[in-house]
Amino acid sequence: MSLPVTSKVPFGGDHNPQQWPEDVWKQDDLLFDAARIDTVTLGVFDWALTQPAQEVYDFSVLDRIVERAAARGRQICLATGTGAHPPWLARAYPEVTRTDFEGRRHRFGQRHNSCPSSPVFRRLSAELARRVARRYAGNPAVVAWHVGNEYGGACYCDLCAAAFRDWLRHRHGSLDALNTAWYTTFWSHTFTDWDQIEPPSALTEHWRGPDHTAFQGITLDYLRFMSDAMLTNFLDEKAAIRESSPDVPVTTNFMGMYRPIDYHRWAPHLDFVSWDNYPPDDDSAARMALTHDLMRGLKDGQPFWLMEQTPSVTACRDVNPLKRPGLMRLWSWQAVAHGADAVLFFQLRASRGACEKYHGAVIGHAGRSDTRVFREVAELGAELERLGPASLGARTPARVALLFDWDSWWALEISDGPSRLVRYQQVVLAYHRALWDAGVDLDVAAVTADLSGYDVVVAPALHMVKGDLAQRLEAVAARGGSVLTTFLSGRVDENDNAFLTDVPGPLGPLTGVRVDEWDARGPEVVNPVRLGAGDDRIEVAARLLFEIVIPQGAEVLGTYRADFYAGTPAVTRNCFGDGHGWYVATDLEQAGVSWVVRQVLARHDLLGPYPDVADLESAVRVAPDGTRLLFLLNHRAEPVRVTAAGSGVDLLTGDRITRGRPLRLPARGVVVLREQR
Ligand code: GLA
Ligand code: ZN
Repeated sequence: MSLPVTSKVPFGGDHNPQQWPEDVWKQDDLLFDAARIDTVTLGVFDWALTQPAQEVYDFSVLDRIVERAAARGRQICLATGTGAHPPWLARAYPEVTRTDFEGRRHRFGQRHNSCPSSPVFRRLSAELARRVARRYAGNPAVVAWHVGNEYGGACYCDLCAAAFRDWLRHRHGSLDALNTAWYTTFWSHTFTDWDQIEPPSALTEHWRGPDHTAFQGITLDYLRFMSDAMLTNFLDEKAAIRESSPDVPVTTNFMGMYRPIDYHRWAPHLDFVSWDNYPPDDDSAARMALTHDLMRGLKDGQPFWLMEQTPSVTACRDVNPLKRPGLMRLWSWQAVAHGADAVLFFQLRASRGACEKYHGAVIGHAGRSDTRVFREVAELGAELERLGPASLGARTPARVALLFDWDSWWALEISDGPSRLVRYQQVVLAYHRALWDAGVDLDVAAVTADLSGYDVVVAPALHMVKGDLAQRLEAVAARGGSVLTTFLSGRVDENDNAFLTDVPGPLGPLTGVRVDEWDARGPEVVNPVRLGAGDDRIEVAARLLFEIVIPQGAEVLGTYRADFYAGTPAVTRNCFGDGHGWYVATDLEQAGVSWVVRQVLARHDLLGPYPDVADLESAVRVAPDGTRLLFLLNHRAEPVRVTAAGSGVDLLTGDRITRGRPLRLPARGVVVLREQR
């Protein structure tokens, strides 16, 4: 099963009419019609409403809400309501609340607060999902099921400890295997009974927080276990839904680059991916593109739903800047350009009280339609209606893969040494930024993905190399492709134990280098790196980590300029089969990363149409019938003038566009060009 079947890009978002008297529901309906809102997500936090006591289920309010939305012709993404448990549950069963990293058993409060291993929580959350599904499964307006909400966090209670031991038995089989994997002879940790194993927390293996652990193997397994434990909660509810709803797709809303949950392990269990886009600032266009691509890559390029974004402001940050005019529209189109087959907001009407009362909404507290935000939402609604089905199911024709790996992320950031300053996301973002600037259509892929269709594979900070990954990367190069990897790659196996070979471990033959030593320095220490030769050479800054490379056949394309390793390689390229294995041994500033990435791309003719126009993003989607859509997104606050890269019709304006003719995009402007060949 895949995405909900719809006739256009669903438009709307989270709606919580249960917070309001019914005369407000009527106002909302009129306003939704005016904004072409055709889809509502209902009931995300309804547990206390639909099950006010353990023996009492009461769907009377939700019935009216669902009936009303259906009667107005809206599609419903219906939640199971288990994102927050009700007070009576925590009171009757204190085990359902979580124990935190410091070992404190929490009492009732907040949301996303249930222990994933609690049998009571598992039973009652599944039972609620079962009843919700049974009640509304036959309603044709229900096009998707929304399980829980933004799964995340962690629990360290005794129930989780017991479940962890079971998980470990399953993973390692025997205590001998576990002791080997965790390297327990170090510091007298040899376990002789499963019950001796404790969750790694501030009370056990950790100091200075969750990233400082004495045993990376234990902490890594706990991260994997916690991600799996929460997945079990999702699967409990999904199975309960399936009893009465065999055909309606099930999702839960992800959070993009969210460290605690390994979405690659989750995604096969979702019918379709959805995610909530709350960028840290309004200068994150590249980061959002990366995250959309990551979400699309979770299910092999299948489109996803943008489940939430704010139309205007968030509330949870210390400072919550307003989306400037045109930004909400631009970012919505960016989502569509990268594979979103729905554009939904959190939220449709603002809460009156509690911590989200200042969170932006399509409809504010005064219920007006003559606000800037409402107007922009309504205009976008009209545009999406004009687009119709053109982009639904369309795929990204990527020949470049950027590898993203939660295990590498975890392993790198819980490691003592070489440097706490190297952050996985920062390294990935820098390489992605270079590809994005060059206008490359790319997939963000799991390390287990099929790499046989790619010309270029970029694997930044591929700290952990598992399974047959090294061979599959070699195969890319052998048939003429390029593989690019960086410092801190090829360091550890799946248990976070070092390879007993030269660094970069199994990536050695492909990269043709050997690394015996590395030097970590504070951010103030710069070692200049000279890239290229002759008149084209440039010098860029490198920081944080300097690996000292001894070529084993690789050609040197960049060298350090300072310190005792001045003149030694910082960037290399190795011929491997018909292609290349590249190695970047240090944290180059963006200009350096871009230089390397463009060298790689040059060999494969993969630049986008405007590689040298800053902040003009391009992205291609190919519809199931073969129609090519070229999205152009001007992220600048000024107009940009370029030459049209294709001919066809702009689906937003109906204007004809002719290749080679001048094309002007207004500030934050968007073109969706349906190309004619
Ligand atoms: C998340 C949640 C929503 C809401 C928004 C606010 O994405 O899923 O319930 O809290 O954040 O930004
Ligand atoms: Zn627990």
